[in-house]
Amino acid sequence: MRLAVLAAVSTVALIASGVPAVAAGIDLLRGHDWTHFAGAARTADGVQITPLDRWITSQKEGRRLQPNPPVNLAGPHLAVAGDFQVDATMAGINGKSAYLQLYGQLPVIYDEWRQERPSVRVGIVGGRLETAVWDGESNTAEETRTFGAGLSGDVTVSIKRAGGRITLSANGKRLGSVDEHDVFASGTVWFGADAQVGGGWRLAALSASGSVDVVDSPDRTQPTSKKSLRAKASGLDRPIHVGTAIASTPLVDDAAYRAIAGREFDMITPENDMKPQFVQPRRGVFAFAEADTLVDFARANDQAVHAHTLVWFEALPTWMRSAPDKETVMLDHIKAVAGHFAGRVAEWDVVNEPMDEDSSDGLRHNLWWQAMGKGYIAKAFTAARQADPNAVLYLNEYGVEEAGERWDRLYQLVKDLKAAGVPIDGVGFQNHEYAKGDRTPPETFRQHVQALAALGLKVRVSEMDVSANGDSAAVQAKEFAGKLAVCRDEPNCTSFGMWGFTDRYGSTADINNYPPSPGDALPWDRNLRPKKAYTAMLNELN
Ligand code: XIL
Repeated sequence: MRLAVLAAVSTVALIASGVPAVAAGIDLLRGHDWTHFAGAARTADGVQITPLDRWITSQKEGRRLQPNPPVNLAGPHLAVAGDFQVDATMAGINGKSAYLQLYGQLPVIYDEWRQERPSVRVGIVGGRLETAVWDGESNTAEETRTFGAGLSGDVTVSIKRAGGRITLSANGKRLGSVDEHDVFASGTVWFGADAQVGGGWRLAALSASGSVDVVDSPDRTQPTSKKSLRAKASGLDRPIHVGTAIASTPLVDDAAYRAIAGREFDMITPENDMKPQFVQPRRGVFAFAEADTLVDFARANDQAVHAHTLVWFEALPTWMRSAPDKETVMLDHIKAVAGHFAGRVAEWDVVNEPMDEDSSDGLRHNLWWQAMGKGYIAKAFTAARQADPNAVLYLNEYGVEEAGERWDRLYQLVKDLKAAGVPIDGVGFQNHEYAKGDRTPPETFRQHVQALAALGLKVRVSEMDVSANGDSAAVQAKEFAGKLAVCRDEPNCTSFGMWGFTDRYGSTADINNYPPSPGDALPWDRNLRPKKAYTAMLNELN
């Protein structure tokens, strides 16, 4: 990993070089990237923090479960070796809460759970300084303490780490301290911020002093290898893409994860970062920074982006479920989101998981169907084509690799869409093999791929993972290799994608526990060692 490390600059040097001194520390605002930070806008006099009101919601009802405030992923962070202090001027405090958060480790973010890892949050709440410390062992803060009174307007907060404690001051006055709870044992400090609806504030100054180095975002370009999955797949007579779902926080703070992501794959899919609850947390308020980080990584590593997903019934912000004008909401969302990424992503999952083989019309009677009937699907594709005329547009579904009612209904649906001239280009077969019964013969899948070819549709393996369920690594390897071989051989199959690559962050983990217990469904184990599945896939591409 190549890091642009700026050596700690002493106050003396700052003064000597004629740069106006920032309160005895390294300036973390000027010369650093605060432009890729969700909810934040760089201004002439700092960084304006606007309320995103972003939440992790429950999958079915869309209840608010946990706040999901943004972190400046692309911006500066600190490498800390010992005691240090951060000084922040929080300006324009108007009675609404304002938060600055220092993360020792970044949270891992699922649709229905945010795994809080160690962090300290200081907030100005009702004129008082509220300090909360997460120790990485629970969703809720391990310790919360409130100090002082009458804080408003411009408040300079100092957060000092020394002797296992964090000491807080406001406007130069010491207010108290809390246990550090080993928050900074990682040796790293990342910055995040949040504002309460109705409020908003300005980070007018931010500096660090003590035993700290400032680290700007890592060079995203990763070393390549001629022996990688992507190298082999692009060397085929008919090249296909090999893809994976990617999560933005590990991509930023886990160098080993980042290296494999760049080396092995030439197509990436944002696992969660483009879903509605993340990109449009409030109506008309968009938060694209995390997804943009993934798109930038892809560009740096010559990878295509398969974007996911515009219209689904899960991962929706609470407001979207209760909005009375669903059609407008859906069309506005597609226009804004597909429009934002137009030219930078190759493909979209426009409609995700629309099928229900047990319903009267074979479709899931989700909120979009309830509002618009089955026509929502055609409307969504038409809007996506308009917003990004060059993107290849997919319908993505699970459980359709196997024969049966679900596949029959899907086939009929896409046949009808094609006949009606709806701009659908392809079908994604998720290929989740969560249970033994999900392991379908490659030959059945092949027949489905060919049936869609006859309709003029492309196909992709979009989200493959294979839980072992007590079987050996060899069984898992055979499953991955079997589906990959079909994709390699069928001319309309454009990419083979897995749903993440390492059990360290897999979506089959048992979540909502600290620590979450990892699944075993992916080709790299939790220590990032390749399993038999990896070798088996390489063999198919040789
Ligand atoms: C999953 C993610 O992997 C999880 O992190 C999240 O908590 C839930 O969603 N089908 C899809 C994907 O289309 O978006 C889902 O991703 C897995 C099933």
